[in-house]
Amino acid sequence: MKKGFKSISLLLVVMVFATILAACGKNGSGGEVSVGIVLPTKDEPRWVQDEQRFKDALSGTKYTTEILFSQGSSAKEKENVETLINKGIDVLIICPQDGAAAAAAVEAAKEEGIKVISYDRLITNTEAVDYYVTFDSLAVGAAQAQYLVDNAKGAGEPLYLYAGAASDNNAFLFFEGAWKVLQPKIADGTFVIANSSEAEALKDKAELSRDELGKIIGQVTTNWDANEAKNKAQTHLTAASADLKGDVAILAPNDGTARSIADVFASDSAVSSFAVTGQDAEKASIQYIIDSKQSMTVFKDVRTLVTDAMGMAVSILDGKSPETTGSYNNGTIDVPAKQTNVIVVDQANVKKELVDSAYYKAEDFQNLK
Ligand code: BGC
Repeated sequence: MKKGFKSISLLLVVMVFATILAACGKNGSGGEVSVGIVLPTKDEPRWVQDEQRFKDALSGTKYTTEILFSQGSSAKEKENVETLINKGIDVLIICPQDGAAAAAAVEAAKEEGIKVISYDRLITNTEAVDYYVTFDSLAVGAAQAQYLVDNAKGAGEPLYLYAGAASDNNAFLFFEGAWKVLQPKIADGTFVIANSSEAEALKDKAELSRDELGKIIGQVTTNWDANEAKNKAQTHLTAASADLKGDVAILAPNDGTARSIADVFASDSAVSSFAVTGQDAEKASIQYIIDSKQSMTVFKDVRTLVTDAMGMAVSILDGKSPETTGSYNNGTIDVPAKQTNVIVVDQANVKKELVDSAYYKAEDFQNLK
């Protein structure tokens, strides 16, 4: 009898607490966390770097934030968003693992009155995205392609194409930007496509539809995975005839995949030289550039993206409307966006752009001149 009474009162206490917590958690200053941040994976240096830049930007601010990683899983990502909703966030900054699959997670946030900022990668086919902060991804692809064009060694150079994950809207933008620059140079015979029958079939088209881009990306995707990139490069070189070796050009979508593709091409004695692109200015790729093992990278200053995302979040918390510079269509709506420019880096300017600018420290690298 006494025992029963005790558990009823305990239950009451728990219920009262739960009600108070729920009340604090909603739209308010009383929530435990005001801004929730969800990043795709810790397995790629790019996103660990973003985490660090968020931490640097947040130290000393009055806003409470929490950063969670989805480890390459959309299910985990949804769980992360739910955890943050339960902590009473008012703003969600989220870089989706899979742009379409993340729609369900942000719709759940939206239902709770939370404002959603898509970070770096656009969440597609949903109305539940309020803002987008991004780099100029078409310019990233265009810069990679332009580098290959500028360094082409005469006519008929074999061109190996690689792309990001088809579940990432950015992979389409990067490839679209690259294709616009490469296609005229395929048409005039500067380059010969070496590893994609889908690209070969579309080589006379200057503008590709999303479906057409999807066909090429589907064939030459790395899934943003260094191992998959390595396996694909090995398969391509094994299949390539002698006339598709010699001096070659390689469109690699980012630094992680560029290093593994470069290693494969470097180990083939029939490849006499190669130009290979990248993006993200990862430390390991900066060392590769210094060592002449990777030709270039596209530097995306994550400090700016973080500042823009947090600036937007703070405007929202302060009841103001964030500044935007344009919009991106996500398949359902035009999402107001803030876009940041990118910088091309190779051996000639690596020190100036990445060390003299205090982005990295000189002692992070060897043989930096
Ligand atoms: C990002 C790149 C990154 C890639 C793989 C893209 O969405 O924009 O910076 O290298 O994902 O994580």
